[in-house]
Amino acid sequence: MTIGIDQLGLYTPPFFIDLRELATARGVEPDKYTIGIGQDQQAVAPSSQDVVTMGAAAAKEALAGQDLSKLGLLILATESGVDASKAGALYIHRLLGLPASMRVFELKEACYGGTAGLMMARDYVAAHPGKTALVIASDIARYGLATGGEVTQGAGAVAMVVAEAPRILAVNDDSALHADDIQDFWRPMYTDQALARGKYSTEQYIAFFDEVWATYREKTGRTLADHAAMLFHLPYTKMGLKALKTVLAEATPAAQERLLAQYQASIQYSRRIGNIYTGSLYLGLVSLLENSETLAAGDRLGLFSYGSGAVGEFFSATLQPQFRQAVPLHGHAPLLAQRKQLAIATYEQLFADSWPNDPSDYQSEPAWFAGPFVMSGVTGQERQYRAND
Ligand code: COA
Repeated sequence: MTIGIDQLGLYTPPFFIDLRELATARGVEPDKYTIGIGQDQQAVAPSSQDVVTMGAAAAKEALAGQDLSKLGLLILATESGVDASKAGALYIHRLLGLPASMRVFELKEACYGGTAGLMMARDYVAAHPGKTALVIASDIARYGLATGGEVTQGAGAVAMVVAEAPRILAVNDDSALHADDIQDFWRPMYTDQALARGKYSTEQYIAFFDEVWATYREKTGRTLADHAAMLFHLPYTKMGLKALKTVLAEATPAAQERLLAQYQASIQYSRRIGNIYTGSLYLGLVSLLENSETLAAGDRLGLFSYGSGAVGEFFSATLQPQFRQAVPLHGHAPLLAQRKQLAIATYEQLFADSWPNDPSDYQSEPAWFAGPFVMSGVTGQERQYRAND
């Protein structure tokens, strides 16, 4: 049975900053951000946008035209969740009016969560013929103003409907895995800003990639030449390139050129949105499908997922005959083109205006309401979600 991604949705808030302007404001040479780190713009989420509202928006797009009576599983993968107990997936379930007879929950393993959800959904569909699953990867990456990680912030969500006989991508059962308890990146419960050992985390990402790539190659007998494109988790776009370059010499010059060109197609959206943690690998997938004109049905893609802490997984996926109808070229270009650019001072004000980490009530600023769903405020320690009408 072929199982995989039948439909995709992508959402990012309609506000961004230009990273050359941020560099100037921070006294940094702009080329460091755009060339050294590989980011041009960064999505900015006002406080009315969180993993629930962004995830619901992406899921609304992914579910368009789907038979909801087949849906048996909803997974929200996130590492910037809004409650330590209740699954944000339940708010999304209500906002989208999904059937009551479903498994609905949230899962976490840093940026690996989206892949954990995708693999769990594939197994669920295999065990329950005729059923479908919805996987949402939604995150706001926050490191703090004027920190080293600020340039790698971002916000957005990717949603995937997983089904038998998928229209876009078959997810193959060929994973190579590596897990180890390391302390490269984490976020204590008392703060919404992540802590990272930047250099160490970069080294570990590459070490985990090299490990799972070697295992995958040995297990499947495949080489780089068997892959039309290699996709990477993208905390910033230079990161995947560093990993790819550690193995590129295994390929012929022509294959190297092809893989580098496809890599460029895969990072177009991340360069403008930034890190969306659990969704970053799948943002790269959407970007590749919408910005590469040389892909064809039957092409095999290689995907490297990494979640700090840490888990690495490499697997392949095969493009299906209807992929181009399901993912039109440049389909999400308008979502990015129609965003509003913010001055750095405005971004700093929005960054400071976040919901309270204490029992007080809070009202999100209606002037910044955007997208199909909003978190209008917090009343009596309960978050208030509604359609943005
Ligand atoms: N022009 C072009 N490139 C420049 C430059 C300039 N003027 N100035 C610096 N650079 C390059 C550096 O040479 C370096 O390139 P390299 O990585 O290829 O060596 C790159 O820009 C970054 O410079 P560096 O000094 O290493 O930056 P930093 O110490 O400020 O670190 C981050 C920045 C973003 C890499 C770091 O904060 C980080 O890793 N944060 C997040 C960690 C993370 O996301 N972890 C999760 C992994 S999944």
